[in-house]
Amino acid sequence: WEKAALSIVVVGASGDLAKKKIFPSLFALYYENMLPQNFKVYGYARSKMNDEEFRDLIAGSLTCRLNDAGDCGKKMDEFLERCFYQAGQYASEDDFAALDKRMADGESEQSCADRMFYLSIPPNIFTTVAACASKAASSKCGWTRMIVEKPFGKDSESFQELSAALYEHLREDQIYRIDHYLGKELIENLTVLRFANLVFEPLWSRQYIRNVQVIFSENFGTEGRGGYFDQYGIVRDVIQNHLLQILALFAMEQPASLDAEDIRNEKVKVLKSMGQVRLEDMVLGQYRSRTTRGTTLPGYLDDDTVPPNSITPTFAACSVFINNARWDGVPFLLKAGKALANKAAEIRVQFRHVPGNLYRNKLGLDLDKATNELVIRIQPNEGIYLKVNNKVPGLGLRIDTTRLDLTYKSKYQATLPDAYERLILDCINGDRRLFIRNDELEVAWEKFTPVLKEIEDRGVQPELYPYGSRGPVGAHYLAAKHGVRWGDLA
Ligand code: BG6
Repeated sequence: WEKAALSIVVVGASGDLAKKKIFPSLFALYYENMLPQNFKVYGYARSKMNDEEFRDLIAGSLTCRLNDAGDCGKKMDEFLERCFYQAGQYASEDDFAALDKRMADGESEQSCADRMFYLSIPPNIFTTVAACASKAASSKCGWTRMIVEKPFGKDSESFQELSAALYEHLREDQIYRIDHYLGKELIENLTVLRFANLVFEPLWSRQYIRNVQVIFSENFGTEGRGGYFDQYGIVRDVIQNHLLQILALFAMEQPASLDAEDIRNEKVKVLKSMGQVRLEDMVLGQYRSRTTRGTTLPGYLDDDTVPPNSITPTFAACSVFINNARWDGVPFLLKAGKALANKAAEIRVQFRHVPGNLYRNKLGLDLDKATNELVIRIQPNEGIYLKVNNKVPGLGLRIDTTRLDLTYKSKYQATLPDAYERLILDCINGDRRLFIRNDELEVAWEKFTPVLKEIEDRGVQPELYPYGSRGPVGAHYLAAKHGVRWGDLA
């Protein structure tokens, strides 16, 4: 692609996401020489700061790659020189006009510069900022794109309002809705795995697959983020977006091409074929404190930012079915929780038994444990492995259920890029494959809104589980109802 001039504006520049993810990703892209030659970064937020103070603020969060050739410090200085700060109110067109002027000055040598806005701000001001920025600070002759990040509403109704309000100021092709899980290496690889290998796709159906599990587990609690979290809960925070997106990519039909619209058309179709999520197919949990070896790990309600007596779930598991010819009757189990025993995210595909397995009786092979299982380990220790049955070498006949293992760190030397790096770069390149289209979200909310309403109307109490445990036992009953055993995260 042509390296044109680009002004990047991070709105909400002093926030956590900006510091932890956006600026480090921008620097990594600069370091890798992936940004247009004439780029500048503008931080925009309410607090007063000059450029130097702003540079000091972000400098602390920039990091060098492990395999840095030694010029990282120099590159960091170069990058910071291209970072500027503009203080302004989020609802002030005048303040955005001042930003516009500043950018225009910086762009003056160029005939035309593109502008990318990253709205790293709370959802209640998305539309105000989108309005002010698009009116007062759009690119005059290049493109203007805005990256927005969830939460995209809380239910179908609030989503529709947000979406309509954004459309008043932006066209669909200007809105880049991020779901950062789609930027993770192993998720991007899902379509390669499926559609570029003969051995998987023919097995990818109800005929051979018993169940599919998508599991997200964190070994820490909300830790100060409870104020935000409590308004949403784990279903909205992780399941309705990250896990559902994974499910859609996993289960969709082969798209007509790798074009963004073709891929997203297939995702929408498969989401539409999914049944409603029902309360009877759901388990909710909330972590409580736990004392081990004299240390107390705080419960959700001990977080000062969480309202006392909150019944917001920090854990949820649910089963859903996709009612189409490929997946009819195959349970998809989604599970997400905070303050559990492990930090991991995985897709586990459990295959059916081998019909008429010759080794069944002879060797006392436990058929359930010995079924093939494909595990896509999204993080940490990214990799893919396939559980297979193998004869233990030697004169006897003993069968071992072992792994064909593709662990990334032993196979590939390169450090994996952060999801945000990939997604920001895609936005700059106008590649929307990994961004969510409005209608995908519309369907995602349709599937979850009724059950979320029911949970709230009925005041469903979550099952308490100790910090650092495997979560509520209810999740095991839910799986057992479908003849499924959750895979062990490893
Ligand atoms: C975010 C959620 O979208 O994803 C957080 O709001 C969660 O609650 C985070 O911790 C997990 O992302 P990652 O990339 O660290 O797995």
